[in-house]
Amino acid sequence: MNIPLLQKWFRKTPPASFDVALPSGLDVQVAFVTPAHAPRFTAGYAQLSEQSRRMRFFGQVSSLSSKQLEFLTRPDGRNHIAYAALNLASPAEPGIGVARAIRLDADSKIAEVALTILDAYQHRGTGLLLHAAVHLHAAAVGIEQFLYDVSPDNTRFIEHLLALGAVKVSQDHDIVRLRLPVCAGPDDVASTTAAAQRFRAMLKVVIDAEAAKVSAA
Ligand SMILES: CC(C)(COP(=O)(O)OP(=O)(O)OC[C@H]1O[C@@H](n2cnc3c(N)ncnc32)[C@H](O)[C@@H]1OP(=O)(O)O)[C@@H](O)C(=O)NCCC(=O)NCCS
Repeated sequence: MNIPLLQKWFRKTPPASFDVALPSGLDVQVAFVTPAHAPRFTAGYAQLSEQSRRMRFFGQVSSLSSKQLEFLTRPDGRNHIAYAALNLASPAEPGIGVARAIRLDADSKIAEVALTILDAYQHRGTGLLLHAAVHLHAAAVGIEQFLYDVSPDNTRFIEHLLALGAVKVSQDHDIVRLRLPVCAGPDDVASTTAAAQRFRAMLKVVIDAEAAKVSAA
């Protein structure tokens, strides 16, 4: 059996959702974002701390406008990819977080990435999981490079991206921009740091979880 070819095929038809048991003990459902997520986005945004909002949206927006909400919940899977995570033990909660990648323009092989995990769930592995899901989907639709705009005081996340192999492409007072090649699988992670090792393992977890879901369908 040609495993890489099989994995490529799975990536072309990713399941709408799949479940992952994270090493932190969280049981998570990962789903491609649809308009049905809108009420969860509104409720989740209200729970986000000022600091996390600033790190993600760079402004003091107190709530999402209906136009923003419509945009954020209608990814097309090609120019705009978005995955959300839900705590399977508390499905009535708004959720855990979201990761998305948006192409710079329709033909670009470069996309901008943004990640948001609700404060109560940070540092439990969901950011890494959603990040892996977005990489795999992006690779399958021909995106080759990711850009990350990060607040200069978000040193922990900048260090994390650098450890994955990202390079700084620019820095001004408000934004550090980093670039990382998109990974189509664990072998594409060139860095050998401990964080890269965890990311490699997470890419495999996502590939396996999606493959199990597709073959069970
Ligand atoms: C940054 C963020 C997405 C990380 O998600 P997470 O689920 O908390 O992270 P994970 O547990 O999967 O760990 C992934 C990495 O993020 C880092 N991280 C965890 N919590 C973090 C936090 N509060 N702030 C910054 N980085 C954090 C971890 O150190 C880890 O890196 P390491 O493995 O090299 O140590 C999340 O903290 C968040 O949404 N912060 C607010 C918005 C933001 O900063 N977005 C990033 C810019 S787009």
